[in-house]
Amino acid sequence: MDDIRYLLNFNSKDIETEYHDVIIIGSGIAGVYTALVIPEEFDIAIITKETIDISNSVLAQGGIAVSLDKEDSPELHFKDTLVAGAGLCDEESVWVLVNEAAANIDCICKFGVNFDKKGKDLALTREGAHSKNRIIHAGDTTGKEVCDKLIAEVRTRKNVIIKERSFAVDLLTDENVCKGILVYDEDSSSLKMYLSNFVVCATGGFGQIYKNTTNPEVATGDGISLAYRAGAQLMDMEFIQFHPTVLYHPQNKSFLISEAVRGEGALLLNDKNERFMPSYHKLCELAPRDIVSRAIFEEMRKTEEPNVFLDITFKHKEYLENRFPNILKTCLSYGIDLTKDLIPVSPAEHYCMGGIKTDVFGRTNIQGFYACGEAACTGIHGANRLASNSLLEGLVFGQKIGQLTVEELKKRDCKSIQFSKIHDFKRQKIDFDKKEMKRNVQDIMTKYVGIIRDEKGLTYAANMINDYFAKVQLMEYNTIEDFELNSIVLLSKLVIESALERKESRGAHFRADFSKTDDLNWRRNIIIKNR
Ligand code: SIN
Repeated sequence: MDDIRYLLNFNSKDIETEYHDVIIIGSGIAGVYTALVIPEEFDIAIITKETIDISNSVLAQGGIAVSLDKEDSPELHFKDTLVAGAGLCDEESVWVLVNEAAANIDCICKFGVNFDKKGKDLALTREGAHSKNRIIHAGDTTGKEVCDKLIAEVRTRKNVIIKERSFAVDLLTDENVCKGILVYDEDSSSLKMYLSNFVVCATGGFGQIYKNTTNPEVATGDGISLAYRAGAQLMDMEFIQFHPTVLYHPQNKSFLISEAVRGEGALLLNDKNERFMPSYHKLCELAPRDIVSRAIFEEMRKTEEPNVFLDITFKHKEYLENRFPNILKTCLSYGIDLTKDLIPVSPAEHYCMGGIKTDVFGRTNIQGFYACGEAACTGIHGANRLASNSLLEGLVFGQKIGQLTVEELKKRDCKSIQFSKIHDFKRQKIDFDKKEMKRNVQDIMTKYVGIIRDEKGLTYAANMINDYFAKVQLMEYNTIEDFELNSIVLLSKLVIESALERKESRGAHFRADFSKTDDLNWRRNIIIKNR
């Protein structure tokens, strides 16, 4: 349906146009690092809908997985990633991830990133489903340390311009070839065309389709939805990771209590002060995330309580101040003293395993359109992401895209791009409360498309969301909130469709009506495409 291919009407002749060798959408770790590894002879525009320092990557606490210990190896990291991924990982991509991890960590250390040290070496901790200590960290604000240093570096680069408060509305394509992007500039309320035949989508995930998420407000999946409209393949959309331990407090249900806290020995207790994880999995509190989240969900159901508790009271204050300063301080601001009190926690949405399908060089099925980071689906996470593989993914696959640019850009000359189009579709002034629709979508997704799913709930959710989708398909778009609402409704619809299709349980996708893993029929990815 060409009429709804673009969200806004435009005549390319009337729009201000810029040309760049490379356009990167998104300013989290994947986007900024990609800009840094592309040779400085190329001119790059980073397009970000907020300011450059606002992203999901900045909030990452735990760390980055890399096999540095003498008892560890890329092979063991590979094995752990595959086990967590529950049979759906793409082995070629995982090999790239684990083998190229250390070189990329070296590179960001050269950009000034300061990880915690033990003696002369980087300090290593453990997180769920890792068989060795291999998580490097910067206190409990690893994402912020990495992003701060990468952003400081990118600001010094003369070949990189940063366009803030600029919303990438749609990909401009012609016969499945990417020509650039259509951007809504919030400051001037005007449209611009950024033309390039090398566009990288690094816009992150879409945690905001759920009521409680560790993701920031900006995580509405806009890049994945523009890719879908343009005909990019999406993969593994049914797999949504719920982090087991998110603060459960009347004023805050989105603050992450890092898995590293369990990695350092914290125990999960139910409302009777009983430890319950040993009866669910041999790795107890450090079992894969999907298993811990479902165990907590089950304890909450049995006890009819809205949360369980995390206990780290046995550690000394000085230790906690040093290792988890941000968690200690934030909990204290809600009257929870980690040295004396149990931390109330419950699972909340944390990470989307699915996204824009790419190969190991970030290539999609649209020529000239690439993706990396959480927006991409390289297949490394399979049905359930191994802890601390996500920042690493942003680095390794950002670097792979950087490797390609030289060869690819030599073949093309961005200044000669032609893109001419008039898009004119009569949109309707539909009167409805958009904020209420967003809240309803989040409620429906949380209730029927969360940790435990079944046919009845998914079908109910599909009917509701399809009604909303019919409205957003036709409505007028005037603000960034309008575009975000479109992304939230569209991506909810796609998650539900994939979840209905997968009639088995695997990793983060648990169907109460098909509770077994069915390797015979379902050891395969669900790939969807608009047209
Ligand atoms: C955490 O610190 O628990 C989050 C790490 C991750 O999501 O990989």
